[in-house]
Amino acid sequence: MTAATVTEPAVELTGITKRFPGVVANSDIHLRVAKGHIHALVGENGAGKSTLMKILYGMQRPDEGEIRVNGSPVGFHTPADAISAGIGMVHQHFMLADNLTVLENVVLGSEPRRGGLALDFAAARKKIKEISDAYGLGVRPDVPVEDLGVGDRQRVEILKVLYRGARILILDEPTAVLVPHEVDELFDNLRGLVREGLTILFISHKLDEVLRVADEITVIRRGTTVATVNPKDVTSRKLAELMVGSELPSPETRESTVTDVVALSVRDLTVRTGDGRPVVENVSFDIHKGEVLGIAGVEGNGQAELVEAIMGMRPCEAGALTLGGADISHWSTLRRRAGGIGYIPEDRHRHGLLLESPLWENRILGHQTRRPNVKGPWIDRAGARADTRRIVEEYDVRTPGIDVDAATLSGGNQQKLIVGREMSGDPVLLIASHPTRGVDIGAQAAIWDHLRTARAAGLAVLLISADLDELIGLSDTLKVILRGRIVADVDPANVTPEQLGSAMTGAGEETV
Ligand SMILES: Nc1ncnc2c1ncn2[C@@H]1O[C@H](COP(=O)(O)OP(=O)(O)OP(=O)(O)O)[C@@H](O)[C@H]1O
Ligand SMILES: [Mg+2]
Repeated sequence: MTAATVTEPAVELTGITKRFPGVVANSDIHLRVAKGHIHALVGENGAGKSTLMKILYGMQRPDEGEIRVNGSPVGFHTPADAISAGIGMVHQHFMLADNLTVLENVVLGSEPRRGGLALDFAAARKKIKEISDAYGLGVRPDVPVEDLGVGDRQRVEILKVLYRGARILILDEPTAVLVPHEVDELFDNLRGLVREGLTILFISHKLDEVLRVADEITVIRRGTTVATVNPKDVTSRKLAELMVGSELPSPETRESTVTDVVALSVRDLTVRTGDGRPVVENVSFDIHKGEVLGIAGVEGNGQAELVEAIMGMRPCEAGALTLGGADISHWSTLRRRAGGIGYIPEDRHRHGLLLESPLWENRILGHQTRRPNVKGPWIDRAGARADTRRIVEEYDVRTPGIDVDAATLSGGNQQKLIVGREMSGDPVLLIASHPTRGVDIGAQAAIWDHLRTARAAGLAVLLISADLDELIGLSDTLKVILRGRIVADVDPANVTPEQLGSAMTGAGEETV
């Protein structure tokens, strides 16, 4: 070995073990990350990826093992320690404060002070702009975070980390919510960062992306590192085998189960923001029993508002909604749910789970008026508990039990719990936003199977997904949304992800 072939490690983890009650999350982990590399971590849901990264970021203390950063042993007690060692982390679930602006969020905890007193927002704004421009992040400092979609929130999180001077960046599933061209943009950003000498640790379930962007890939299986490979030497199939030992699934589904009975009818729906700007404009469609209607669009084009209007979480200014023939336009969210709408929300932490409550209480959430959660006027604990066990079993939620808090589940296992809950009680209509976001490929195939079976039994599904293979593979009907309007109908049997991607950006569209 010559000196030239030795790349100095930015991070070395040796013999890391971390136990939680009932679970060994990390067990004798060995990981070496070369400086200036993009190093990917892959593994099935609950394998221990996020835990390991939280250890490196000072959020968790390992029970055993050694951490070295740039050659020196470190013992972080808090993220502040990790940050001062130049490590930054963007979490699987964003942690921005909704009620603050981008600028406020970025400076939160590291406020620039002028003369030691007042916050120097002008300097902060300038620095944010510089970083944003340098890496093409397109971050606008004065926008309230609550007005941002998940794609923009993520860029803010990355900028926040860079703002604190991170040289080692941890990104936990940064692409889960991005559509293909946004992924390309992010990868360009990441390549720019490593060219500047930064080191990136990157977690993803999208193996083709991992192969595209990573310099090295480490596979974690059941808490331990089982292999580190060069992407040039493996295929995604091989990686999947290393992870879970199963074949890559395919979402193909062509036998139509569409009936001519309309389940949901949306007519001329318009939704406006507080300042009167239309975010959904004159949208009309029907979803039939047994039909999956997919909506393709770049995040932020009105999908979230459309879903929230159908769920009754956001007032619609004009238009009519009928469910099984009943006008539901003025129904409360709870009544719509009780009327048979299942809802897999875009943001599972803000709308899907009570993190500090046990799994069985989360089973009741949003379903508190229906069996098996109630008997007469009372909450039926036994019924809810038994049904939570069924969901854990049927949806393969990896957990030591139903009494642990939802916060202790890995991201993908939280998602499986939500999908299982929302598929319970034979919904008439399922509104599914990114239903397999963050789940590993084996669990993804299982969720697709559950959806197909329910569809064959008459379930109508409104599907929103950034995963174009999933959209194309599952949808019977596919529409493209752009700036709040439905701009195209696409035949899912004949469209490629590339064609769909360009329809989503309005390529070839007349725009006014
Ligand atoms: N705070 C905690 N308390 C108890 N158990 C935990 C805690 N955090 C994680 N775990 C458990 O540790 C294991 C590893 O979880 P982790 O979040 O690291 O998985 P992951 O590889 O990131 O999975 P995913 O792909 O689903 O995000 C899981 O069994 C999880 O339930
Ligand atoms: Mg995780």
